[in-house]
Amino acid sequence: MSILSGKNILLGITGGIAAYKTASLVRLFVKSGANVKVVMTPSAKEFITPLTLSTLSNNPVQSSFTNEEDDNAIWNSHVELGLWADIFVVAPATANTMSKMANGVCDNLLLATYLSAKCPVYFAPAMDLDMYKHPTTLESFNKLKAFENIMIPATSGELASGLVGEGRMAEPEDIVSFIEQDILGKLPLRGKKVLITAGPTYEAIDPVRFIGNHSSGKMGFEIAKAAANLGAQVVLITGPTHEKVSHSNIDVLPVVSAQDMYNEVHKHFESSNIAILSAAVADFTPKEVASQKIKKKSETLTLELEKTKDILASLGDIKKSQYLVGFALETNNELENAKGKLKRKNLNLIVLNSLNDKGAGFKTDTNKVTFIDDKETITAFQLKSKREVASDLLNKIISEIDA
Ligand code: CTP
Repeated sequence: MSILSGKNILLGITGGIAAYKTASLVRLFVKSGANVKVVMTPSAKEFITPLTLSTLSNNPVQSSFTNEEDDNAIWNSHVELGLWADIFVVAPATANTMSKMANGVCDNLLLATYLSAKCPVYFAPAMDLDMYKHPTTLESFNKLKAFENIMIPATSGELASGLVGEGRMAEPEDIVSFIEQDILGKLPLRGKKVLITAGPTYEAIDPVRFIGNHSSGKMGFEIAKAAANLGAQVVLITGPTHEKVSHSNIDVLPVVSAQDMYNEVHKHFESSNIAILSAAVADFTPKEVASQKIKKKSETLTLELEKTKDILASLGDIKKSQYLVGFALETNNELENAKGKLKRKNLNLIVLNSLNDKGAGFKTDTNKVTFIDDKETITAFQLKSKREVASDLLNKIISEIDA
């Protein structure tokens, strides 16, 4: 899946011959799963028709401040367009438009949108070789870079004038991969391995029965997705659950019992940078597992249980530079119990959820959590979706490991 999937891409097309290539560019953005809108300068329409671009982008194309065809002209809002965009790509970027962008000139819809946009802006210059080398063009490049706009450099080759040199707009495929690589390279968990446990464990009683719990695995799966989307390589070790995930950065390793989870976690912990243990691991397991199905011949049945290994505590004992996060599900004396676990298990952070809070805990799509870190900083959150909780948690971890 492309990192551009689900992103809102605004393509700004200016009046250069390379505009003809933007049909392919729109097509590639759409193929990568992005939502695409196009804004054009009036002169760009001489090089490629809005109809081609609206058809390929599945969205109306805008090129003027008002809809001129209509007697009751409707204002095309550059502010709305600018806010809609997650990424603004100006391609081709002519010397004229770049100079205006660099100097705050705002005499068409594309330029007004540029000034309104708060998202990252990429620009792909295209012009003849002497224009490309002219000091005013270089000045525009430098000013735009100083505004933190990102230049997708032109390449060398045969130009529309027949001359050969620098100034050809990067090919559409290269523009797409440049943007993908740029975004990936800036993801805050890039290069980090994150180990996550999720779900319940099942402790076998006999070949058909087990002791389990109501954990759905939702919280751990949301954390895994959020970490992967932030660039991490994720190992998700999960007990039996109905949750599913398919992501190129996530390795899902299913396990059944607390002992299986312990073994799998220990295979991966040493090479991990961050470990987040959200699984609801059984604290006790049957001492003996009957080899045959237990028959109901007696009135009562006594099972002898023994303690499982505490996976989280075992990691706390051996951790070096890993950032270790545990969960605490409490019913009373919540803060004190959670603080106690944080210390006892040598954690960097504990996520407390109380079963007393409505909408928190097992099976729900929401959770209400409090973070307590090893400096005893306490941050309490409102009831939120588990996806939002996952994002809050990763933001907290990123801020701690970057500090
Ligand atoms: N945990 C674990 N291995 C276990 C038990 C728990 O890794 N055998 C982890 C959980 O994944 C969670 C944290 O420990 O991150 C807290 O689990 P919890 O059961 O709430 O805490 P306990 O230390 O078992 O304490 P108690 O049962 O007394 O509340």
